[in-house]
Amino acid sequence: MRVLVIGSGAREHALCHALSRDPDVTALHCAPGNAGIADVAQPHPVDAADGPAVAELAARLAAGLVVIGPEAPLVAGVADAVRAAGIPCFGPSAEAARLEGSKAFAKEVMAAAQVPTGRSYLCTTPEEAEDALDAFGPPYVVKDDGLAAGKGVVVTEDLDRARAHAAACDRVVIEEFLDGPEVSLFAVTDGETVVPLQPAQDFKRAHDGDRGPNTGGMGAYSPLPWADPKLADEVVATVVQPTIDEMRRRGTPFAGLLYAGLALTTRGVRVVEFNARFGDPETQAVLARLRTPLAGLLHAAATGGLAAFPPLRWSRDAAVTVVVAAHGYPAAPRTGDPIEGLEEVAAEDAPRAYVLHAGTRRDAEGRVVSAGGRVLSVTATGPDLAAARKRAYRAVSRIRLDGSHHRTDIAAAAAAAADDQPQVAE
Ligand code: GLY
Repeated sequence: MRVLVIGSGAREHALCHALSRDPDVTALHCAPGNAGIADVAQPHPVDAADGPAVAELAARLAAGLVVIGPEAPLVAGVADAVRAAGIPCFGPSAEAARLEGSKAFAKEVMAAAQVPTGRSYLCTTPEEAEDALDAFGPPYVVKDDGLAAGKGVVVTEDLDRARAHAAACDRVVIEEFLDGPEVSLFAVTDGETVVPLQPAQDFKRAHDGDRGPNTGGMGAYSPLPWADPKLADEVVATVVQPTIDEMRRRGTPFAGLLYAGLALTTRGVRVVEFNARFGDPETQAVLARLRTPLAGLLHAAATGGLAAFPPLRWSRDAAVTVVVAAHGYPAAPRTGDPIEGLEEVAAEDAPRAYVLHAGTRRDAEGRVVSAGGRVLSVTATGPDLAAARKRAYRAVSRIRLDGSHHRTDIAAAAAAAADDQPQVAE
């Protein structure tokens, strides 16, 4: 199978890394890719959000499968353009991607499907926002209704900051704060059948101890030794399947990856948000453990064949990914800094630890330099979380990027927990 992956982040590098190990993949292409993805997939300088251009590229490459990574192309209808060209595409239609593209739409679908989530108000005037902030009190959860490149959600005790973020959004969803640990559960679906992946946990704040500003995610691990082994099945039954059924009932079936961001509250599981694509950086940890060849799974989802797909196979290993971020991330990331140490990781730590590129490019001299806020995802596996952490951080210590920062506590609490045996789902 010839596969084309759309996007340029560490999530797309993780997808390409997994696809490159799939014996059924005969050619791997990406658009536009980055300096690391180019090592495993042939890059093409095509705008990921340009549907006709992506469809034309896929046809020219005779791709048997297109995998769309980021949300912006999905919301822009790139999957529709690819499917209209008769090419199987992993990723929902623009209509279905509204589950991520509009927080208010997602809330409406959840209400119709009786999916548990936080109470919320959609506000379009400062007065409505003020009333909603007043109704819930701190901590305030203020979400831009539309896509905002990872900057749409503010969770704060500071009323002025909450007001300012609400004022900066055209339409804003203000909702109750959900406490309890957060879990990311990805489900592959063809619009009818749902296949959950293993849960992961993301670290959204910039600094150790969950301090500092919200980011796109500073690290992740999987599995979750502290979680109920039945969590994925429960979430499929109460959240994912009802949502998929509701989307199909509306005539806008959702086929692709439904990402349920969950809070495990004292009152039970609640949906914090839906995304219409693989999460980043959780994907790096989850795919490190998936033993089922990826292309067949994604192709089955793209072609309505998941009901006949065999159960997924998982490694017994744990996986940890640590994000190395640029100087100034997330407020004002600096780009253009040379990155050194990548060859040392490849020589000393591979294959158990490896570097997935996010914001990188090659400069005129062929050096790999930073080109975004989250620059690298250093991923490692091991027999347990403690071993995977150790390998990941040893590899991180070899990377030299001026002014970079990373969290030092990814998976630390889970690794330290007494019962640290990875769960295995067959
Ligand atoms: N890890 C958060 C996200 O992918 O949106």
